[in-house]
Amino acid sequence: MGTLANLALMLLGVICLGHAASLFHDVQEPLGATHKRIAIIGAGTGGIATLRTLVRVLPEELTSGWEVVVFEQRGDIGGVWLPDLNPPRPPELPETPLYGHLRTNGPHPIMTMPNFPFKPYTDLFPHHSQVWQYHQDIVHHWNLSSYFHLNHEVTRTRWVGTSEAGKWRVQGRNHEQNTSFASEFDHLIIATGHDHYPHEPDIPGLYEWKAAAPNRTVVHSIFYRDPADYDGKNVIVLGGSGSGRDIARQVIKHANSTYVSLKFEPEDHPRFPFPRLPGLIFKKQIHHFTPNEVVFVDNSTVSDVDSVVLATGYEYRFPFLTAGGHLDIVGDENEGEEHLTTNLRRLRPLYEHTLSLDTAYPLGALYGVGFPTDSNSGFTDAAVALFVAYTIAYPHLLASRAEFLEHLRADEASQRAVGLDPAYVGHRLVRPGGETAYQDGLVEYLQVRGLAGHLGVPPLGQKFTPSWRPYGVAHAAVLRRAWTRIEKWGDGEVRRWLEGVETEEDWANLITRLVELEQGIEGEEGFSDNVDDAYGYY
Ligand SMILES: Cc1cc2nc3c(=O)[nH]c(=O)nc-3n(C[C@H](O)[C@H](O)[C@H](O)COP(=O)(O)OP(=O)(O)OC[C@H]3O[C@@H](n4cnc5c(N)ncnc54)[C@H](O)[C@@H]3O)c2cc1C
Ligand SMILES: *[C@@H]1O[C@H](CO)[C@@H](O)[C@H](O)[C@H]1NC(C)=O
Ligand SMILES: *[C@@H]1O[C@H](CO)[C@@H](O)[C@H](O)[C@H]1NC(C)=O
Ligand SMILES: *[C@@H]1O[C@H](CO)[C@@H](O)[C@H](O)[C@H]1NC(C)=O
Ligand SMILES: *[C@@H]1O[C@H](CO)[C@@H](O)[C@H](O)[C@H]1NC(C)=O
Ligand SMILES: *[C@@H]1O[C@H](CO)[C@@H](O)[C@H](O)[C@H]1NC(C)=O
Repeated sequence: MGTLANLALMLLGVICLGHAASLFHDVQEPLGATHKRIAIIGAGTGGIATLRTLVRVLPEELTSGWEVVVFEQRGDIGGVWLPDLNPPRPPELPETPLYGHLRTNGPHPIMTMPNFPFKPYTDLFPHHSQVWQYHQDIVHHWNLSSYFHLNHEVTRTRWVGTSEAGKWRVQGRNHEQNTSFASEFDHLIIATGHDHYPHEPDIPGLYEWKAAAPNRTVVHSIFYRDPADYDGKNVIVLGGSGSGRDIARQVIKHANSTYVSLKFEPEDHPRFPFPRLPGLIFKKQIHHFTPNEVVFVDNSTVSDVDSVVLATGYEYRFPFLTAGGHLDIVGDENEGEEHLTTNLRRLRPLYEHTLSLDTAYPLGALYGVGFPTDSNSGFTDAAVALFVAYTIAYPHLLASRAEFLEHLRADEASQRAVGLDPAYVGHRLVRPGGETAYQDGLVEYLQVRGLAGHLGVPPLGQKFTPSWRPYGVAHAAVLRRAWTRIEKWGDGEVRRWLEGVETEEDWANLITRLVELEQGIEGEEGFSDNVDDAYGYY
């Protein structure tokens, strides 16, 4: 890319970030290693990405005085990818929404952390067990296991101090020993995930409908495990994002009839069109239930439904913060500027979905990792983690609270300008350039403040996100069709395509070759999502 173009991009980045004034801050060399205690809560993708960045990516002379601890309530690492084989009955919640037939919805190279691809010969759309194994591989490769405090559930986090100085008092339960623990930290990083507290829409008449016949069921997708539970039933799945689509395409093979109720036309989903699989009956949103019928907003009705599956998403809740008095739950409008609040769709005020701008503690005391929705988590988390780690190391790189708030307000104004409601959009990455621009922007923040070329941070003018990643994201559906085709050709073909594919670059090339293969075949033969083998496997 030409120098002028680079300069233009840099300037654009600076303008977007709105901190042109602080552009030429020099990075001061640290005066010896500073002692800091840092707690990460959660050992899923986000927690692991952050830990790796803090203790293995940053230069050792910066971090040698740091003590980093990861609290994880479960008995192992992996977050949603660690199965919960015997989920409890409602209202008690399973520890993960993971179900037996889960495979990734995108090709694995786009989910990875930088320069750490999945093992050779990993299926391009791996089974969930291989994704869990990937997390284990990271921990082993970087020798991270000693940082994890497993079976440690954090129940309360409270800032003891002022807006200028203090410590986090972190309290919780050690489930292995049935004891309580308490400890103090300078920085708290929340990586507890956002797919754990079901959002159940308030649909008039739903529970009266359920009670009106003995064998009717209403369950949220967090409890979904096995499509065989729906043998012979008439099922209605609400919601068209990842889980809704997956559950519908599995249930269809077992149910007598499968309805899908969507807010949008199947083709209009913002990320992936909902395939018009044979046998799926598409309905509008539900308006209400009567004791015998489901009534939709277009006034059509269905009367034979036995089971309702609410694939209606999750709520942003962080009970330990709320218990400590640091996260108020508010109504739909969420305009908090002094104190951190959640309307269950988003936390505010945060800078770029990560840095808390709450006035009760200093900037840099509280970060979140893994908040963005619809992101290919590993790589996004790695970008956020770089921002977190370097701003902990060099606190003077943080702009003022007022500047960060201004950035947040400008971002929200640009959402409103295109007809979006920021309080509803929440942590979806809707800015032009989406996820890639978000990743690049966070790292650019560091690049333009003197950290370009430091460990993990590319030199000035070079983006953090290589172009094959957004290419893979944009071609996820065609790649899935390509991979299904190759799987149909047999194991020999699968192995032939994966042969010699080892480095990140090899996987990127594989993605390009597969897109070309599939587009070539589809160009000649045409393709129809209706005959959708691509979504048919499990
Ligand atoms: C069914 C399903 C399918 C998905 N498929 C894909 C996919 O194909 N591709 C993709 O990129 N993403 C997918 N995702 C998104 C997935 O959530 C992310 O990829 C990512 O793994 C989330 O990581 P996380 O660390 O942010 O959260 P989590 O994985 O939820 O990890 C949070 C961890 O924090 C722990 N924790 C929570 N509260 C406490 C506490 N108080 N004290 C101590 N520990 C606590 C939890 O036990 C958990 O281990 C899927 C999600 C679901 C639910
Ligand atoms: C891994 O970490 C442990 C605990 O910190 C340490 O004792 C061990 O020497 C490390 N192993 C390697 C190979 O670095
Ligand atoms: C755990 O400890 C609590 C009190 O600290 C006690 O009431 C409870 O019975 C203990 N549970 C087990 C399984 O030992
Ligand atoms: C539900 O129960 C009713 C009455 O007990 C029965 O007629 C019906 O077949 C049952 N439906 C299913 C799907 O089991
Ligand atoms: C099976 O589905 C068909 C079509 O939706 C419906 O007419 C029929 O009543 C259903 N059968 C049962 C046993 O529910
Ligand atoms: C649905 O029925 C109600 C009441 O009968 C009517 O007011 C409304 O206009 C109808 N809506 C549609 C989309 O037909």
